[in-house]
Amino acid sequence: MEQMELALPAKAADLAQSATATDSQLDNWQVSQLIAGNCVDIMRGWEAGIIDLTITSPPYDSLRDYKGYDFPFQAIADELYRITADGGIVVWVVGDRINGGRSLTSFRQALYFQEIGFSAHDIMIYQKKNTPFMRSNAYTNAYEMMFVLCKGKPATFNPLKVPTARHGMELLTHNKLPDGINKKKLGELKKEKTRTNVWSYAVGLGGTTRDKIAFQHPAVFPEKLALDHILSWSNPGDLVLDPMCGSGTTGKMALLHDRQFIGIDISAEYIEIARQRLETHGLTVEFVDCRSS
Ligand SMILES: C[S@@+](CC[C@H](N)C(=O)[O-])C[C@H]1O[C@@H](n2cnc3c(N)ncnc32)[C@H](O)[C@@H]1O
Repeated sequence: MEQMELALPAKAADLAQSATATDSQLDNWQVSQLIAGNCVDIMRGWEAGIIDLTITSPPYDSLRDYKGYDFPFQAIADELYRITADGGIVVWVVGDRINGGRSLTSFRQALYFQEIGFSAHDIMIYQKKNTPFMRSNAYTNAYEMMFVLCKGKPATFNPLKVPTARHGMELLTHNKLPDGINKKKLGELKKEKTRTNVWSYAVGLGGTTRDKIAFQHPAVFPEKLALDHILSWSNPGDLVLDPMCGSGTTGKMALLHDRQFIGIDISAEYIEIARQRLETHGLTVEFVDCRSS
């Protein structure tokens, strides 16, 4: 494939160090792009360490027909590692095909990510509040995995909180001392605590998103899921990538929350759905066509 002219600047920090960068270039440094093409070819054209956060969901085995895609998993993983900044995160949302038994592709992928250098920072669960997929000889599957992979140690963690059941001053049990008696001491119960790593979302129209156009894509993930990861692992101004962006869910939430965004999909049709979806929210993105002829 011919190497495309992709106007992806270096990270803002690199731009700041550039002798030629003007103040206005620095103030206006903003990327919002939707690219039609194979994400491996496109990422290969970028310099290393430019992406702060990737949130993406690959095709699950051969579960759906995504218009003849080519899904070279290991090449995608290798490129993701190279282009992720130190301390950057990749959130890989994946489920297994269930056909008799589970394919376990998700586990194989997670092990490969670890092999190439990512830390398996967390293995989170995306629980579906409503699910039609029942099995006659097993419990109804109600979740997918969210592998949170980090290059080094996370540069950003803004923990999402939930209210606690009780708060205020209370006699709290301390560790047992050698006499075996539980000691109690006055302590404060906080008003909120950090969430667990099991996140539940309603799916379908109204749950996943209210954007009807998104459902022209067969496998949209909930926009709240994308938002929760964006808030957790990035800060305003950071560069967020979805290399298999489908209907543009990650992009919508990243741009609405002052992050920069690059979305890639091998299908120009899906990219057009994403572009129209973002437009309805007043989000303008540059379209780049990098399909090989
Ligand atoms: C599970 S869907 C992503 C859906 C997306 N998270 C959303 O909310 O709409 C996976 C996407 O990967 C795309 N895809 C598959 N292989 C690709 C590749 N090599 N490069 C870019 N996109 C690819 C498919 O076209 C499909 O849209």
